[in-house]
Formats: sequence, C-alpha cells, structure tokens
Amino acid sequence: MSHATETTIAAPRTGRIDPKYTRSKGGKGNFEMLAWLFMRLSGVVLVVLIFGHLISNLLVGEGIAGVDFGFVAGKWADPMWQFWDLLLLWLAMLHGTNGMRTIINDYAHKDRVRFWLSMILYVATAAIIILGTLVIFTFEPCMVDASGQLLKDVPAFCHG
Ligand code: HEM
Repeated sequence: MSHATETTIAAPRTGRIDPKYTRSKGGKGNFEMLAWLFMRLSGVVLVVLIFGHLISNLLVGEGIAGVDFGFVAGKWADPMWQFWDLLLLWLAMLHGTNGMRTIINDYAHKDRVRFWLSMILYVATAAIIILGTLVIFTFEPCMVDASGQLLKDVPAFCHG
C-alpha cells in the first residue's frame, strides 16, 4: 500500500478564525439535540428503505435490464411503493441536508459564506422535495403521444 499524500482535516471550528467571525453559544433551545437524534433515527429507517429499493429494482425480476418507463409506472401504480419512495425521498433529503448543514456550520467560518451556502442548500432541498413529491403523486402511467397513441413502454394494464 502506498501513502502518497495524507491530508488532515482540521477539527471543526478550530484553526485561525478571525475573532470577528466567532459565534456566541446562544441558546437555540433543543433544536441541535433533536437534529442529532433525527440523524440516528432516519439513518436506521434509511437502511431499510434503501435496501428495499435496491432489491426490488436490481435483484428481483429482470434486474437492471428491466428498469424502464413501464417498470416505474408499474411500481407507482401501487400505493405501497408510492409511500416507500415518498418516505425515501423525504428522509434522504432531510438527512442529507441536515448533515450538510452541520458541515457548513462547522467549516464555513465567514458569516456571509455560511449564510449563502446554507441558502443554496435549503433552496435546492426544497425544490427537490417539492418536485419529487409532485412527480410521485401526479405521475401518469398511461402516457399518450400527440396523436393519442399509447407510448410503447407503458405498463400492460394501460392496454386493458
Ligand atoms: C444507509 C443509511 C444511512 C445511515 C445509517 C446514515 C447514518 C448517519 C449518521 C448516524 C450520521 C451522523 C454522523 C455524525 O453526527 O457524526 C450521518 C451523517 C450524514 N449523512 Fe447519513 N446515513 C445514511 C444515509 C445517508 C444518505 C442517503 C445521505 C445523502 C442523501 C446521507 C448524508 C449524510 C451527511 C451529508 C451526513 C453528515 C456527515 C458529517 O457530519 O460528517 N446519509 N449519517
């Protein structure tokens, strides 16, 4: 094994921080404790959701070769999979966003940098959660083209 380069990341909120950027430890109630707890609980649920997602999409049936428009449409015709994917979307996004929030708070020392990175993160998260939720609930499995013909990959139940 070669050890070409070794990088050590400084411990959070240490190093040469300009005193004008030091932050008060002012109370935010118990929000940080709840956020800490949320990371552990959502992590446990995510293991189940992610493995269920991978097994149903890639291991059973035709595997990855079977994943197309009709496959997704077939899954979302089942309220169980709609709920599964909705929960996966929300938990992964809130878990990932809260993790990134922690990293930004720990390593972005300048107030303005921290503010703008957080804003970009929250806007991106809101957009993805809103769009993803809309897609799951407004998805049209039996899509037709401009002439009213069903698309070729629609699930079998569209022809019935
Ligand atoms: C397989 C299920 C997962 C488990 C069990 C899990 C567990 C955890 C736990 C316990 C933490 C807190 C670590 C700490 O406070 O030191 C954490 C942090 C984090 N997680 Fe997850 N997680 C999972 C999936 C995900 C997913 C899908 C994403 C992305 C969408 C993600 C993104 C993050 C990020 C960005 C952090 C912050 C890392 C840090 O503080 O250094 N995790 N995860």
